[in-house]
Amino acid sequence: MAEGVGLSASQRVAALAVARVHAGAPLPAALAQSGADASGPARALVHELAYGTLRHWGALDFVARALAAKPLTDAPLHALVCVALYQLEHARTPPFAVVDQAVNAAAEVARPAARALVNAMLRRFLRERDALLERAQRDPVARHSHPRWWVARVLADWPAEGPSILAAGNARPPQSLRVNCRATTREALLARFAAAGVAARAEGTCGVVVDPPRPVAELPGYAEGEFSVQDLGAQLAAPLLRVADGMRVLDACAAPGGKATHVLELADVALVALDSDAARLPRVRENLARLRLDRANVRVLHGDAEQAAQWWDGEPFDRILADVPCTASGIVRRHPDAKWLRRPGDVASLARRQRAILAALWPLLRPGGELLYVTCSVFREENDARVAEFLASHADALREPLTFPAGVAHSGGQLLPSAEAGGHNQDGFFFARLRKP
Ligand SMILES: C[S@@+](CC[C@H](N)C(=O)[O-])C[C@H]1O[C@@H](n2cnc3c(N)ncnc32)[C@H](O)[C@@H]1O
Repeated sequence: MAEGVGLSASQRVAALAVARVHAGAPLPAALAQSGADASGPARALVHELAYGTLRHWGALDFVARALAAKPLTDAPLHALVCVALYQLEHARTPPFAVVDQAVNAAAEVARPAARALVNAMLRRFLRERDALLERAQRDPVARHSHPRWWVARVLADWPAEGPSILAAGNARPPQSLRVNCRATTREALLARFAAAGVAARAEGTCGVVVDPPRPVAELPGYAEGEFSVQDLGAQLAAPLLRVADGMRVLDACAAPGGKATHVLELADVALVALDSDAARLPRVRENLARLRLDRANVRVLHGDAEQAAQWWDGEPFDRILADVPCTASGIVRRHPDAKWLRRPGDVASLARRQRAILAALWPLLRPGGELLYVTCSVFREENDARVAEFLASHADALREPLTFPAGVAHSGGQLLPSAEAGGHNQDGFFFARLRKP
C-alpha cells in the first residue's frame, strides 16, 4: 500500500515537471520546482518517469490526444496521462497499479472529477493499445518522438542513418565513467567496484559502464578522484587533441571541465580552461580538485572566446579545444527535454556563434598547432558545414583525417549515436581537427 502511495505521488511530481518543460523550463529546474528533491527511491522513480516520458513524448502525446474525447486543456493532467502511458508501455509496474495510482494522482493534479476521465482514458488504452500504436507509427512526430522539424532535418542530413540516429536519441543511456589514469587503472577500479558489489564492465579505451546505474557519489573511488562521469563518445575528444608534455593548451569552452580534466590526465600541459559562463566555472574547479589535477600550470578563466583581447596574454597555443555551444542534438538521450525546448531557429543562431568562436580562436594557434572543433550535435549545419565554411575563408587551415578506435560507429568526424548494448554505446559528437601549417 505504501508503495502505491509513493507511486501516485511520483506520477504527480513527474507530470508537473513534464508540464513545466513544455512551458519552457529545463528539466532539472522543472524537477526541482515540482518537488522532486527528496532523496532515495522516490527521487529515482520521479526522475525515471520524467526522463522516460520526455524521451517518448511524441508517441505518448499522440496516444493521449487520441484517447481524449475532447482535447485536455489542463497541461499537468495531460502530462499525467502521458506519464501513466509511459509506465504502461515501458515499465514493469503492473497495469492495474499504474491506472489506480494515476487515477488518485489525477484528483490532486487537477480536480476530483478528473479521476473518471483518467480512468476511462487509460482503460481504453489497455483495450485498444495495438490499434492506437499502429496509428502512431504513421505520424512522424509520434513515430520518432522528436519534433517534426528535427525529424525532417536528421532525415535530410542522414538519409541512411537518420532513423537509427533518432531511435538512439530515445534510448536509455548507459552510466559511463572515464577512469582517471593518473589515479588508478581500469582493472583496479573494476576490482574495487566488484568488491563493493557494483556491477560494471570495461568499454571503450578508458571507460567503465556501471549497469545497473548507481548514484555516482555512492560509487567507491568517486571522492578520491578515480573516475569522472563522461559518455564514451565524449571520451574520444581529448585523445584526438594529441597533447604531449610541455604543450600550451587552451580549452576555450571548458565548463564543467569533462574534456579539460581528461587532457590533464593524458599529459602534463599548461592549460587555460576558459568559459564565458561564470556560474559554471566552480564546477571546473571542483572537478580539477577532486581529480587532483589542480596544478600550478592550470588556469581557470572567465572570458568570452570571441573576445580574446580581453583575456589572452599573447602567447600562442600548441593545441586549442573548441567544444562550442550547440543544439546538443547528439545527446538527447541524456537530455530529453532539449528536443522539446529547442526551436528551429536555434540552429542558425548557434551556427553564428560557432562561426565567430572559430574565427576568433584561430589567430591564437601557433604555426604547426592543431585545433579540435567539437560539437555534441548531429546537425550538419553545426558540423561539416561550419568546418567547410571556415576552410573556405582561412587559407592557412588544413583539415586532417581522424582515426577512431575499432568498434566506434562514425561517418567521417561524426560519431553516430548508438544504443548498441555491449558495443561502443555513445552519444553523437562531431570532431574536426584543423592544423595550421
Ligand atoms: C558543450 S559545453 C562545454 C563542455 C565541456 N567542454 C566539457 O567537456 O565538460 C559549451 C560551453 O561553452 C561555453 N560558452 C558558450 N559560449 C562561449 C564563449 N563565447 N566563450 C567561452 N565559452 C563559451 C558555455 O558556457 C558552455 O559551458
